[in-house]
Amino acid sequence: MSFRDDVLAGLRARPRAIPARWFYDRAGSELFELITELPEYYPTRTETAILEAACDEVAALVGPGRAVVEFGSGASTKTRVLLRCVKPAVYVPIDISGDFLREAARVLAGEFPEVEVVPFEADFTRPMTLPAAVADRPRLGFFPGSTIGNLEPAGAVDLLRAMRASLGEGATLLIGMDRVKDVGVLTAAYDDAAGVTARFNLNLLERINRELDGDVPMDAFRHVARWNAGAARIEMHLEATREVEFTVAGEAFGMAAGETIHTENSHKYTADAARLLLRAGGWEPVAEWTDPDALFAVLLAEARPVGATP
Ligand code: AVI
Repeated sequence: MSFRDDVLAGLRARPRAIPARWFYDRAGSELFELITELPEYYPTRTETAILEAACDEVAALVGPGRAVVEFGSGASTKTRVLLRCVKPAVYVPIDISGDFLREAARVLAGEFPEVEVVPFEADFTRPMTLPAAVADRPRLGFFPGSTIGNLEPAGAVDLLRAMRASLGEGATLLIGMDRVKDVGVLTAAYDDAAGVTARFNLNLLERINRELDGDVPMDAFRHVARWNAGAARIEMHLEATREVEFTVAGEAFGMAAGETIHTENSHKYTADAARLLLRAGGWEPVAEWTDPDALFAVLLAEARPVGATP
């Protein structure tokens, strides 16, 4: 669905909800980069440190001559950490947005002249045929950031299955999954003192005003991040601080004070839940690494043979 259709459908729905993927316009992507550097936002630096510490072990487990297939543009520090020690023959970053992808790939190709970098513009939520450059090579999928956690469990399973189908028999997957932990640590990570995450969330309303001819009064909304223990997820909402009326794309909406628009879920996993999710998605966990405080985990899994279960 388009931004317009998702926003209008989401504002009509009860409870109101807009898919989190619409956060990432240029301003939203820049704000997300700032989030990853916040003192409260532990996932990025923790996962990078785990990868640095585990990298040689990962390289030994997956073996030489692999094609690394990253689900995402490959612009991160984590990509560089992985490429440095796995030393793949081919690296395929996959992203839906072509311009950014090609630019990130060009920079990486300059840094890793011995690796064939093949950017691939595609929607990786569906099974796809990978570029010919990876045809006869064993594949290592890479999906860092606990981005899997932004999906509902059923959607996460579908995505893992799509990755399994795309990477094929004999593939391995290296995936970052954020852990369930102290609620104070979790909520601070999504409601930082400097207010960057609040700006990231509120930018969605600004985007609606900019792109959909909206007149949502920005001063009538506040950012809310809360832990939903039953669903093991942080939820982000935009809460109306007073009764408010506005129009978007010519359609009128009214919200009562305290009513929210649900904008994001970020699921967190116990060690068991992480393994169970992988297995449901067609992947058998074979190794995992965490940091000393068990804030975050990186798991290596093998594609499960299709069929044959007792
Ligand atoms: C991209 N994703 C894994 C982030 C997360 O932690 O769920 C998005 C984010 N939302 C607020 N802060 C970060």
